[in-house]
Amino acid sequence: MPKVLAVSASLRNARWGKGVDKLLDRIRSIENEDELLRFVADEAQVHYKHFLDAGRKEGLPFETIYRNLRKTAGDRGLCNSEVGMTAALWGAVQKGCDIDYVPLSSFFSPKGEGRELDALKAKIMEADGLLLCTPVYFGDRSSLASDLIEFIRKDMELMHHLRGKPMAGVVVGAKRNGGQETTLIYQLLEMVGIGMLGLGNDTETTSQYGGTIVAGDVGEGSKDEYGLRTAIGTGRRIGRIVVECALAQGVQLIDDLRVAFWILQDTEDGFAMRQVERLVRSAEGMDADILELHRHPVTRCMACDICPTSVGPDKEYRCMIKVQDDPLHRYHERFLDRDLIVPVVLSTQNRAGLRTVYQRFIERTRYLRRGDYLFTDVAIMPLVFEELGASENMSMRIYTSLIRHHTVLLRPIIGYIHRGTLLNEDELPERWTEVLEQCRGLAAGRLFALLKCPNVVSYNPVGYILSAAKDRELSVQERRRIIQEDRLYRQREAAQRRLGIEV
Ligand SMILES: Cc1cc2nc3c(=O)[nH]c(=O)nc-3n(C[C@H](O)[C@H](O)[C@H](O)COP(=O)(O)O)c2cc1C
Repeated sequence: MPKVLAVSASLRNARWGKGVDKLLDRIRSIENEDELLRFVADEAQVHYKHFLDAGRKEGLPFETIYRNLRKTAGDRGLCNSEVGMTAALWGAVQKGCDIDYVPLSSFFSPKGEGRELDALKAKIMEADGLLLCTPVYFGDRSSLASDLIEFIRKDMELMHHLRGKPMAGVVVGAKRNGGQETTLIYQLLEMVGIGMLGLGNDTETTSQYGGTIVAGDVGEGSKDEYGLRTAIGTGRRIGRIVVECALAQGVQLIDDLRVAFWILQDTEDGFAMRQVERLVRSAEGMDADILELHRHPVTRCMACDICPTSVGPDKEYRCMIKVQDDPLHRYHERFLDRDLIVPVVLSTQNRAGLRTVYQRFIERTRYLRRGDYLFTDVAIMPLVFEELGASENMSMRIYTSLIRHHTVLLRPIIGYIHRGTLLNEDELPERWTEVLEQCRGLAAGRLFALLKCPNVVSYNPVGYILSAAKDRELSVQERRRIIQEDRLYRQREAAQRRLGIEV
């Protein structure tokens, strides 16, 4: 069974030693969401009571409370980060994963010195996916999470092991909008930067970048029920992809990898386009579709209230905008059924001669997302040619927009430009070959999972009353179900063909 390892970067962890195993056993035994919510509520209160008993009731100084807390056995209670983590691990169990937990405060001292790091390393080496759970500190992850990431970055064996493994995050902050999303995004960027696969939440709740909980004081985390459900969704999401990666071990793609290049920002004479052509020529086993979107007049989104315009099959173009030369209208079918999407952007300081449709194009992909997440589980890899000092942060922006399509984020390829010269031109084909190799495995796992454990993904129109009302009509719901079945049938048929498997 593939394993998801959660780490908690809280200073107030309630579990350590045998208490960790006890918690994991209990999570595995929980049968439904109600039982989970009751369990975390009880344990959060136990943790609160520990604080009272450790001296909060008498108003003792915090150092004394802290010291007294360490004298407990570590086998009861949950701090706020552990509450979110418990919910997420339970979500991963529902998808067929085994689970493990590391309280980072047991491994890094207040001054950042490591202890028993061999044991920590062994836990990471056994993991097939990583769930980073942390409190928000100043809109970013805590210093314990930072110590862990430094530890990983310094160890080539760990770096190698984690490359291509999924990661996701759950964070807790005292305030609504207290920096939960920035924290999730920073840790996602960091972990994708070391080669992990970046994931967000699933589609049952909002909070697309991962689990987000609002809780300040000890014992409060379990009261944010919606937040807990975002954590469960995140656990299900990483669980699903960890299972897909495990399934990929037994199968192979027997046809070409389907790669779409979306050129969204480039010069008139096609600087980025020439680099794309070079990469395409440098590797085999790929069916490359290059869309020079920046050469087309992309009409901006109208923010209509019925997106998509109808309930229909994936192949039908269902955006309100029907302008003839609009590339989404014209090339709709070329956006479907890809294994890897490569958004391509040239980012320069001097904008003379630069054509961009980046933002207009991104906002127009709304109908594809609301059409029940057409890019579900598709790999996204930004290809950015960046002039030093351009400061457009394009790969980060591509991630934060396209993760909202329920995709899997891959480490970007960035070409660095200085005074008109591409400084790392030689490295790009090698990186590209690695990406293709990784994506062949991912595609095989995704296709095989469609045959083994199909997953129907529906757009949940939270916050869109008109669409929600439209969806409540039985006929619409019924049609939606038929269309989803149609998608599954089409995808499963393709999976059998592309894997050479008869089911
Ligand atoms: C140094 C420090 C900085 C913090 N910064 C933020 C913040 O930027 N935003 C926020 O919402 N909460 C912030 N908090 C509050 C914690 O995120 C919050 O209390 C959380 O529930 C702690 O989780 P834990 O019980 O798992 O440790 C901060 C707390 C500390 C100690």
